[in-house]
Amino acid sequence: MSDLGANGETLEALLSEERRFPPPDDFAAEAVAQPGVYAAAAADPVAWWAEQARSLRWETPWETDLEWEPPFARWFVGGRLNASVNCVDRHVEAGLGARVAFHWVGEPEDDTRTITYAELHQMVCQAANALTELGVKTGDRVAIYVPMIPEAVVAMLACARLGAPHSVVFGGFSAEALAGRILDLGARTVITADGGFRRGAPSGLKVNVDQALEQCPEVQSVLVIRRTGQEVAWQEGRDLWWHELVDRQSPAHTPEAFDAEHPLYVMYTSGTTAKPKGILHTTGGYLTHVSVTHRLVFDVKPEEDVFWTAADIGWVTGHSYIVYGPLANGTTSVMYEGTPDAGGRDRWWRIVERYGVSILYTAPTTIRTLMKWGEELPASHDLSSLRVLGSVGEPINPEAWMWYRRNIGGNRCPIVDTWWQTETGGIMITPLPGVTTTKPGAAMAPFPGIGADVVDNHGVSVGNGQGGYLILTQPWPGMLRGIWGDPERYRETYWSRFPGRYFAGDGAKRDEDGDLWLLGRIDDVMNVSGHRISTTEVEHALVSHPGVVEAAVVGASDPTTGQAVVAFVTVRGEGPEGEAGRELVDDMRAHVASVIGPIAKPRQILLTPELPKTRSGKIMRRLLRDVAEHRELGDVTTLLDPTVVNMIDEKLRHAPQSEEEEP
Ligand code: WT7
Repeated sequence: MSDLGANGETLEALLSEERRFPPPDDFAAEAVAQPGVYAAAAADPVAWWAEQARSLRWETPWETDLEWEPPFARWFVGGRLNASVNCVDRHVEAGLGARVAFHWVGEPEDDTRTITYAELHQMVCQAANALTELGVKTGDRVAIYVPMIPEAVVAMLACARLGAPHSVVFGGFSAEALAGRILDLGARTVITADGGFRRGAPSGLKVNVDQALEQCPEVQSVLVIRRTGQEVAWQEGRDLWWHELVDRQSPAHTPEAFDAEHPLYVMYTSGTTAKPKGILHTTGGYLTHVSVTHRLVFDVKPEEDVFWTAADIGWVTGHSYIVYGPLANGTTSVMYEGTPDAGGRDRWWRIVERYGVSILYTAPTTIRTLMKWGEELPASHDLSSLRVLGSVGEPINPEAWMWYRRNIGGNRCPIVDTWWQTETGGIMITPLPGVTTTKPGAAMAPFPGIGADVVDNHGVSVGNGQGGYLILTQPWPGMLRGIWGDPERYRETYWSRFPGRYFAGDGAKRDEDGDLWLLGRIDDVMNVSGHRISTTEVEHALVSHPGVVEAAVVGASDPTTGQAVVAFVTVRGEGPEGEAGRELVDDMRAHVASVIGPIAKPRQILLTPELPKTRSGKIMRRLLRDVAEHRELGDVTTLLDPTVVNMIDEKLRHAPQSEEEEP
């Protein structure tokens, strides 16, 4: 961060809310979004969304724009459409079959594929025919557990084409986590790959599926994509190679249109309890929301732009802005399989240069990592094709924002800091390039047609210059339609804190101009590298380790990952010292990885004789977070035994730091 002084700026000036970046005049003149869009949407938000929905292809037009019986919404009631037709067929029919849908870049150098819309169409039709042969029918759920390869997109679109809701499970989740999702969904079909590449080495996926399915007797077919060529165990009658089944299918498939509210997918995300929530998204509203946000937030011009969302398809960002938004708009995207340093720390910049990427969308944690690697790497590549930069996943600190603007965006590209969630389906709070004057670190304003507010404990709107809870005040087309199999939890989690209004779980502030700044989660959800991890889920994983008596987990701030998982654990007996202690801690970390996945591994585990609790027996997580962050301790008067805190603090300072690299 020392390079900040390069332009003679002080940190104070940098962080000042006075700092503003208006869109350059020439950019504003050509931008897709125009200032009038806000007034048009505000005048009649539902009608505005309906207007946007008309840019999709509907086989049957809808009768009613919105039926809203809080908290249950139905958008474009009576309309029928097919998501895969909207993402693929209609572009081919419009004569755009030769346009590139994906420049796919594998993790190994020179392992690339270019897939046009015509090719994508053929692949999706063949995969849909293959799934039909396996007996997949409309309404059946399909679990997808794959690396970042084109077949991942094809599998999703083939499911959508059949009206079979997919649930993509991130490849970094364990067999145990995969099994939980398959069971919750009642999925009988799984699409996976032999494995994927991670930092040059093949890693296994099929092996996790095999383990998961020991608990899932209902699963009848496993379709396996060959990616790495590694040996895999095989269960005859259940397992099938993708290339054997899919490649021999007809490239023609006649799609059916589904109700606008037909389930499109379920994406699991962490909440405040140990059980992940299956967030349900449906078809017409979701596609409307992701396509219009994709177009306006990134100023997308499908004929010229090369769009790159550097995220995994296993998260909602990949669903909305690698697959459904960009494809609905007929855009050319880059899809990259690997980590930013695979094949060298300038890998991203070589990709930008080679494909002429014009819009880049990534997470603050990655920006901070790139920052650590230094400005020479981007400086030694031609990044002049870039014209819009996006950020998502966590609050972006102003230093990272400025570094991104200067070193990647050449001081000319507008930056859009986009706030949204798995539940919201698409972007909700964001600047619009060409329209919004931005401030480093602020997400600025609700997207047209979106209602957001910051309220106090009683649900009363706070004034400018004040902070509170972020809420959403009116239904929007991409909103979750529920939690799979649990309507009560849906109501309880999102709509009960401030009845009739959506409780996001984030803190936010309005600055003196009324612009919005997101402040992070206010519940027991951690945000590690832009990934949501539940403290309760990690605690449950820890106490299922035979050596653990009790565990408390907190998200401690971390300069790169935003937050890091830190666990305080009490063990049976005295608790081992030295080498034995280190081994036990490593074993616990491995245990968390096997229960949830490597992404949830604690950065640090502290063995402690006791956990600080209130008189009513609640673990004082905030205090533990203070300890983990070496902060001044706040009020400890409700503590059962204040000396525990000192002990914990002392432990922390001398704790062995794990040398293992973070996932
Ligand atoms: C949580 C949602 C949206 C796709 C990726 C994460 C945090 C997300 C921002 C942002 C501040 C942000 C919030 C939110 N978050 N974007 N631009 N500024 N915070 O999706 O896993 O559902 O997590 O990520 O805390 O609630 P998710």
